[in-house]
This record gives sequence, structure tokens and C-alpha cells, in this order.
Amino acid sequence: MIDHSLELVKVTKMNLNKLEIVLVATLPVLYPASFFKSVLKGSNTAYLAVVDGKAVGCVVWRDEEQTSHLLALGVFILYRRRGIGSALLNLFVKQCKSKEIYLHVSAQNIDSILFYQHFGFSAVCRVPNYYRGLEENTAIKMLKMIS
Ligand SMILES: CC(C)(COP(=O)(O)OP(=O)(O)OC[C@H]1O[C@@H](n2cnc3c(N)ncnc32)[C@H](O)[C@@H]1OP(=O)(O)O)[C@@H](O)C(=O)NCCC(=O)NCCS
Repeated sequence: MIDHSLELVKVTKMNLNKLEIVLVATLPVLYPASFFKSVLKGSNTAYLAVVDGKAVGCVVWRDEEQTSHLLALGVFILYRRRGIGSALLNLFVKQCKSKEIYLHVSAQNIDSILFYQHFGFSAVCRVPNYYRGLEENTAIKMLKMIS
């Protein structure tokens, strides 16, 4: 059930530090400075999920020529299974500029694979060595066409 106080807030230089905090807390990937610069430049789009004034989740995507790439989606563990991840994913689907959307998820991350399947994403292929510096570095590429 979505929290009544849930707000989805665009990331700007005023709240960029909150995006960094949510990413560090929810995903094992280290995002380089260029990732955050791209948010400020507008080539990556990012939103925070804010509950009772606290940033508890985020979504980041990039609109490419023919497709939109979901780069990151995370919700603090204590706030999961309340519809916040769905709200962030739905925002991405509504606002992205393409009809074809895709993402990469760790092959070990069964919970998230189930989450994306729940939203109609299908696995396309395995991508070995996708995550640099991680022991479990194989990703599954997942795709969805928006009607
Ligand atoms: C994936 C993630 C964003 C989902 O966020 P969430 O707020 O818990 O998702 P929702 O509450 O909107 O879940 C919607 C539905 O997805 C499915 N789902 C979500 N988490 C699931 C899980 N752990 N196992 C099985 N199904 C799951 C369920 O069908 C759920 O509906 P239900 O709760 O009514 O059964 C969250 O688990 C997360 O932050 N994981 C760590 C970061 C990560 O791996 N991100 C994805 C890779 S980029």
C-alpha cells in the first residue's frame, strides 16, 4: 500500500546528496562522479521517493536514441513492499521518451527480477562481466515495450 505522504521529487543540485545516500544504501554499485554530473546536466533523469520528508528511494534513467535505459532503482529495505518501487517505476514509464525500455539487473538478484517480471519486463540475455569490481558480475538484460 502506497504511503499517503509519498512524494516523488525531481533531483536537482539542491538534493543531489540525497540521491547519493539512497544509491549507496540500496545498490552494491559505486556510481562515478560523471553519473551525478549527468543528472545535473539533464542527460540522466532522477527522482527521489520521499516519505514524511525523508528520501527513501530513487529512480534514475537515461533516454537514448530509440530506447530508454533504467539505470538505477532502489528503496530502503524498511520501506519495501509498500508500493514505493512501483510508484518510481511507473513514473519512469510515464516520463521516459521511448516505447522500448530496458535495464540490467544482477543475475543473483532474484527479488528484483521478480519485481520487474511483475511489471511485464522479459529477460533478453545474460551479460557476463557487466558489473566491474563485483564478484557476482553477470547481469540479466530485461526489456519491456510500452503500448
Ligand atoms: C526492487 C525494489 C526497488 C522493489 O521496491 P518495492 O518498493 O519493495 O516494490 P513494490 O512494493 O512496489 O513491489 C511491487 C510488486 O513487485 C513484486 N515484488 C517486489 N519485491 C519482491 C520480492 N522481494 N520478491 C518477490 N516479488 C517482489 C511483488 O509482486 C510486489 O507486489 P506485492 O508487494 O503486492 O506482492 C526493492 O526491492 C529494492 O530496492 N531492491 C534493492 C535494489 C535493487 O536491487 N534494485 C533493482 C536493480 S536496479
